Amino acid sequence: MRTQVGIVGAGPAGLLLSHLLHLRGIDSVVLESRSREYVEQRVRAGVLEQGTVDVLDEAGVGGRMRAEGLPHHGIELRYGGAGHRIPFERLVPGRAITVYGQQEVVKDLIARRLADGGKILFDVPDVALHSLAADPYLTFLGRRLDCDVIAGCDGFHGVSRPSIPDGVLSIFQRDYPFAWLGILAQVPPSAEELIYSRSERGFALHSMRSPEISRFYLQVPPDASLDDWPDSRIWTELRARLETVPGFALTEGPIISRDLSAMRSFVAEPMRHGRLYLAGDAAHIVPPTGAKGLNLAVADVRVLAEALAAFYGSGSTELLDAYSDTCLRRVWRAQHFSWWMTTLLHTFDSDDAYGRRLQTSHLDYVTSSEAAATTLAENYVGLPFDSGA
Ligand code: FAD
Ligand code: DHB
Repeated sequence: MRTQVGIVGAGPAGLLLSHLLHLRGIDSVVLESRSREYVEQRVRAGVLEQGTVDVLDEAGVGGRMRAEGLPHHGIELRYGGAGHRIPFERLVPGRAITVYGQQEVVKDLIARRLADGGKILFDVPDVALHSLAADPYLTFLGRRLDCDVIAGCDGFHGVSRPSIPDGVLSIFQRDYPFAWLGILAQVPPSAEELIYSRSERGFALHSMRSPEISRFYLQVPPDASLDDWPDSRIWTELRARLETVPGFALTEGPIISRDLSAMRSFVAEPMRHGRLYLAGDAAHIVPPTGAKGLNLAVADVRVLAEALAAFYGSGSTELLDAYSDTCLRRVWRAQHFSWWMTTLLHTFDSDDAYGRRLQTSHLDYVTSSEAAATTLAENYVGLPFDSGA
């Protein structure tokens, strides 16, 4: 079997890349280790930056997102007994976020690829990458797929990044001393906007998926197990961390899914080795507090699709050669923002009184200074693609 671009992983990065390449007349095959049902049901991100929404729209896969996604023009930072709204409409006019589940983006992309005759092979557990320097190929289930280039879009635990020989990549990493417990609950959201709440008991986040479904996250110990968290404990803790301002009451309801996520910052540089290009979580991870991971994956494949189009159009490798540097500028801005939001809002075991005072002072600054609030807002809604970030 032969294709132009062999794509490993059918997450948002791999699927969108395959679609963007198709729009440019470039052939690809996507190899995914899990089943279609599994990738369509996996509950993860929910916040789409303005630029992500625009990319999906321009690529003709934004119809359901426009109809069912929830545009938001602000978020609330809650701490010290008060809520503080960061108003995007005033601070970053014309830019907003859209709340739309990652698995819905994945469903939309799979449906469109298959309708366009795209090749996505699910349940392929044993993908291996070969000959990355020249004439690369993939093997799986006793078959061989020759390609011009390979796109490693297989997430943090995938096979692509580990296929790069030792010593090539520089790794930059930070682990955090906590994890996030996420739940979906069949209950209307308790507020119209997202609430990022810092409390003495730890961080909590109020989010949503639809007018009927709420999404919540709790900061929990890094070794927490879902068995430690029966429904009653989850609601008690959410109430303790979110019902911290007068008049706010959380509406409880049946919990329909739960998940635990480690909190990690990670960058592998460069994002290319020979004919292998890494994109999305395969190359970098951010803690979810800034809602950046999915958006970075989209930004990467947007750059990669343009670079491959230029290569196939004119034979020029200029954009492909610049791919890693181009992506890493935005990646590092998001790394900083995600680290900053995380340290601003979480409780650290090692926190001394001095550290807590600094956190409060910084939150006071962000919620009272137009300049500081704008910094948060413009990073949260996403910097323009052409800003050099
Ligand atoms: P993935 O989604 O991980 O997809 C990789 C795919 O490759 C998977 O389908 C996997 O099964 C497959 N794969 C793995 N190994 C192999 C293999 N060996 N062979 C073949 N296939 C393989 N981001 C945001 O932007 N906004 C948010 O609000 C947000 N919230 C988040 C909340 C949580 C709790 C978590 C955990 C993440 C959140 N993120 C958020 C991050 C976001 O979910 C990820 O950054 C995003 O999924 C990255 O997409 P990807 O396509 O690069 O990788
Ligand atoms: C959601 C996830 C995030 O990481 C975040 O910062 C905001 C919202 C969500 O899943 O809704």
